[in-house]
Amino acid sequence: MAMKKVGVVGCGLMGSGIVEVCARAGYKVTVREVDDTQLQRGLQRVQDSLSTALGRQKITLEEMDATLERINGTTQFAPFAECDLVIEAAIEKMAVKKEIFATLDQVVPATGILASNTSSLSITEMASVTRRPKQVVGMHFFNPVPVMPLLELVQGLLTSSETMDVATQFGKSLHKTIVVAKDNPGFIVNLLLIPYILDAIRALENGVATKEDIDAAIQLGLSHPMGPFALLDFVGLDTALFVADAMYQEFRDIRYAAPPLLRRMVVAGLLGRKSGRGFYEYPRKEQSQK
Ligand code: 3HC
Repeated sequence: MAMKKVGVVGCGLMGSGIVEVCARAGYKVTVREVDDTQLQRGLQRVQDSLSTALGRQKITLEEMDATLERINGTTQFAPFAECDLVIEAAIEKMAVKKEIFATLDQVVPATGILASNTSSLSITEMASVTRRPKQVVGMHFFNPVPVMPLLELVQGLLTSSETMDVATQFGKSLHKTIVVAKDNPGFIVNLLLIPYILDAIRALENGVATKEDIDAAIQLGLSHPMGPFALLDFVGLDTALFVADAMYQEFRDIRYAAPPLLRRMVVAGLLGRKSGRGFYEYPRKEQSQK
């Protein structure tokens, strides 16, 4: 199946990154947001990221213009009738995702593939509200999407091998390296990442070391690009808590139980870069980028 047109539901941090990499790879992309304000904000994010890529000589001005030409914004679902693949990147709430999948199932051609960028929710459950569970797949991208080379594909209980093959080819066309996971909470990356970042918070709570020293130890001792607290601020403490809670709900395993400090910080609005303060503080400029 030759993919030409891709739809993306949601133009937030992840959605806008997915739009950008698809359009850069040559696909025509239709992105849907709930209202015009959100849509313009999302499209601006794509523009800003492409400007960064241009400034760092990752793309030429011609490529940037051609990429932007391939992107169409909408507040409707109807334009997805033209798409071969639609990737959902809306908020991490199963009820919202099920509503979106039920609507997409009505609009997208019967041969089309429906994908979700969920980081923790069940692909099989989203597929259950469609008439095409064989054509529903997880496509978990990583933040920042234009920079991170991984695409984690998730095979639901009923996802066909044909759909996995098409999704693999599509991911490769975006220049991503593909890994495949079954529909198990956290898939591969979050299954291992969440206990690690929760343990880092527990170490801080227990006074093992300062957050700066824990970050430095991991960054310099293990060559990670960021220590766990810098990463938590980058991902968003609310997102990390949400994923941890979703995994705890399924596994009932203490390794996924959020430490009180994380929950308190989220309640206090200390969400990381996007709110200006998490474990660290961020100047205005960085806030507006996130
Ligand atoms: N488009 C294209 N390229 C870009 C770009 C853009 N918009 N922005 C930056 N780049 C390129 C830069 O040119 C540079 O390329 P080079 O290495 O060839 O010179 C490279 O990306 C790195 O950029 P910077 O130099 O600006 O920044 P850093 O070196 O400080 O790296 C970072 C920033 C990539 C965010 C790095 O700190 C990192 O990898 N951090 C960890 C991120 C991570 O772990 N993400 C996953 C989070 S988990 C997740 O998303 C899953 C969810 O389910 C929770």
